[in-house]
Amino acid sequence: MSADDDLVTRGRAIFEGLRNAVVPTPPPPPTPDEEHEAPVSEAPVAAPPQETIPEQTPAPSQEEPTLSPEVVASVAEAAEELPVVQADAPRSADHFARPLPRVLAVANQKGGVGKTTTAVNLGAALAELGYRVLVVDLDPQGNATTGLGVNPRNLEASVYDVIMHDAPLEDCIVPTSLRNLFVVPATIDLAGAEIELVPAFSRELKLRRGLEQQGDDFAFTLIDCPPSLGLLTVNGLAAATEVIVPIQCEYYALEGLGQLLRNVNLVHGNLNPRLEVSAIILTMYDARTKLAEQVAGEVRAHFGDKVCRNIVPRTVRLSEAPSFGQPIIVFDPSSRGALAYRELAKEVSGGAP
Ligand SMILES: Nc1ncnc2c1ncn2[C@@H]1O[C@H](COP(=O)(O)OP(=O)(O)OP(=O)(O)O)[C@@H](O)[C@H]1O
Ligand SMILES: [Mg+2]
Repeated sequence: MSADDDLVTRGRAIFEGLRNAVVPTPPPPPTPDEEHEAPVSEAPVAAPPQETIPEQTPAPSQEEPTLSPEVVASVAEAAEELPVVQADAPRSADHFARPLPRVLAVANQKGGVGKTTTAVNLGAALAELGYRVLVVDLDPQGNATTGLGVNPRNLEASVYDVIMHDAPLEDCIVPTSLRNLFVVPATIDLAGAEIELVPAFSRELKLRRGLEQQGDDFAFTLIDCPPSLGLLTVNGLAAATEVIVPIQCEYYALEGLGQLLRNVNLVHGNLNPRLEVSAIILTMYDARTKLAEQVAGEVRAHFGDKVCRNIVPRTVRLSEAPSFGQPIIVFDPSSRGALAYRELAKEVSGGAP
């Protein structure tokens, strides 16, 4: 059996395992907690409105839920999948830096935890630092595509063609309004790929093959994975050198983390020995709630030095930016969200090239 055939056989075994795994139901999308905020605009327009409304008001809620012992235990169990050093251990400024080029799968099977927001805005902030960045939209929802101002209706080719028809990746790369930032868009066709891929030869390695053809053109490739552990996510993990896991600072955010890390370990052990969970990013942190602090504390206690020091705050400007087709650093460059993703980009890359 050739090395490739062997890889394919092992890939199939993994996918069967994943398919049989119980995937928890995603929580409902977060509701805006700042009632005074302006509604999110629907249609993209040229000039975004200025920030006139304070992003947060100090209003601690009276009866707050706290983390149950079961949730705390599940985090501890998940942490067993990942060797870490204590959070307070000294870190160098380039703790998260790795040799270039880097391919980062932004993955978490939980829905609405900030995967797309992180892929788009971390990508944009890395591009601003001077890196050439490619965002690959691997989610049929196409949120990274529209969030970067690309209309999926006007496309000749998308990531679907790369995965299903072995189309050259370079035929699908679209520039964005930001210098150095490019996107491989997704359309709703991709929804069919999960099923259409099943009988395909080396179906877990389609994206990897596409990216390999691209060579070292991009210093950073960020793959925005869908909220599932199906074949698309396996393609993302098989193509990546690293996994970045966004965790929403909310009660249910910690559920299923163990399963995600086990699956990453499976792909690492069978398909992609280069793969490592390089960073956990805490997102949608609401400083007004004790729960957010507790979740952040639990994650830090268990995942130690894997957790980025910079936390993404919950801010309405971050949720408005995609409807204008702009990353936050373009939409509102001085907002807290823009600042957070800029700092994260420095932390993850180790600084400008
Ligand atoms: N830091 C934040 N503050 C406020 N809103 C946010 C923040 N991050 C993300 N959001 C909003 O929360 C929602 C979910 O975020 P996002 O789409 O990034 O999550 P996701 O994990 O990619 O979701 P899915 O699993 O559906 O792909 C979006 O409406 C987004 O605009
Ligand atoms: Mg998404």
